[in-house]
Amino acid sequence: MNELSCTMIIFGATGDLTRRKLIPALHQLQYGGHLPEDFQVVAIGRREITQEEYREDLFHAMVAYTRILIDEDSWETLARRITYYKMDLTKTEEYRGLQTFLKERQHGENFSCNQLFYLAMAPEFFTVIVDGLKDTGILEETGNWNRLVLEKPFGKDLASAKVLNENIQRAFREEQIFRIDHYLGKEMIQNITMLRFQNTIFEPLWNSRYIDNIQISVSELDGVGSRAPYYDQTGALRDMVQNHLLQTLAITAMDPPKTMEADQIRDAKVKLLSELILFTEETSKTNVVFGQYESYKNEIGVQENSVTETFVALKLFIDNARWRGVPFYLTTGKKLPEKSAQVTVEFKAPNQCVQPEGEPCQVFDMQPGSQVNILEIKIQPKEGISLRLNTKKPSVISETVVAEMEYCQSCQNNFNTPDAYEKLLLDVIHGDSTRFTRWDELALTWYFIDSIHLDQVPLCEYEDLGRGPWEAHELLERDQRKWWHVETHKKEAPNEDP
Ligand code: BG6
Repeated sequence: MNELSCTMIIFGATGDLTRRKLIPALHQLQYGGHLPEDFQVVAIGRREITQEEYREDLFHAMVAYTRILIDEDSWETLARRITYYKMDLTKTEEYRGLQTFLKERQHGENFSCNQLFYLAMAPEFFTVIVDGLKDTGILEETGNWNRLVLEKPFGKDLASAKVLNENIQRAFREEQIFRIDHYLGKEMIQNITMLRFQNTIFEPLWNSRYIDNIQISVSELDGVGSRAPYYDQTGALRDMVQNHLLQTLAITAMDPPKTMEADQIRDAKVKLLSELILFTEETSKTNVVFGQYESYKNEIGVQENSVTETFVALKLFIDNARWRGVPFYLTTGKKLPEKSAQVTVEFKAPNQCVQPEGEPCQVFDMQPGSQVNILEIKIQPKEGISLRLNTKKPSVISETVVAEMEYCQSCQNNFNTPDAYEKLLLDVIHGDSTRFTRWDELALTWYFIDSIHLDQVPLCEYEDLGRGPWEAHELLERDQRKWWHVETHKKEAPNEDP
């Protein structure tokens, strides 16, 4: 049996994730010739529909969500590989039927018995599915592999994540579990490691001596849309910060891994996450801001008195020699003026002492027009890197002009960035877990998030499509800093008229 050949069994055949992300990603992989020869999909759903109806529904989803034009040949080939299977996954007895169905197919020509289980479902179904698979013996291994892919949310705090993890580990070993964080599949997040460790010019500066602060910001234009029932129970802290933002932070700030092997990278991230300084009651009050966009409570599915945050800004510190004293500012929110994500590194100014302790300080006055150096890693919508430098303005007097050096990866002709799901699916097929979250990383991110005293965090309203709550700007202004990705916005002066 070919090591890559496999059957992908999707739980959640008619769900949003399958239609919007998985099938378009598979189409793109098929088009690029990346799928193994005998790759098959069994898509499991509750609805009574025919194979034709199901494939037609997927085709419509493809038209709406594919990143490339639909290639008819690729679609036809992929569609032939997909089989719809109807079952009620909450009924344990129905897993017997699934087992028979899979066995029959796998003994047929061209079907392999490597199995990739993809749970594109709400997490409350994870345990029942995993138990159903285990109890019927579908997971028995006889020279084949079984892998499990899980979507977030993985718990709602450390305690619930632990319970879920224990349930899953009753049937799957850690190395079989691929916990998706789709930010780890984004091109420019992967590029951070490349930028840091394949250029000798950055690593010597990547520390508290040269860096003043680092900002990680993810803004979204859209509101909660149709996901209100999930989102209203979750909020931006758990939906975005616990996973995407902390993973981005870990990659940006980790020490160089011993090698670029999956486990070495994840060890480096675990070390960094274990060095995050936990929040106290006091720092929860001063260093965390929650916001809710004005029209949030009018969204269908949101409770009328909801106090769920749709915006978070926070300041955190890392307790290690490299980063001691350097603030990391993280922010994310919905219904903001644009969809964008970036990591911004602000270097110290020439008039700040960067010498090691005990050595004489050499500082330079800031010339008129000079600004601090900024390195920006643009994750989306444009992908690229920019570096801001001070140069001399061509003139007879000594004045500085800022030069913006910009590399726009996604602007290049014929550049077609693969979607995060394309890379992540291929990684699972190849058994490469580098871009997936290991349990110890996940546990540490929950441990950190749980340290926030939620009752101490103010919830501030912000204007739809405005710049977020002014308290988030004040968080940096207090430190004589500003967010680089949004214009500063000031609190309106209180009306002092009697
Ligand atoms: C998801 C969150 O994980 O990421 C969503 O659940 C959010 O609320 C989305 O909209 C953002 O992802 P991207 O790739 O569009 O930045």
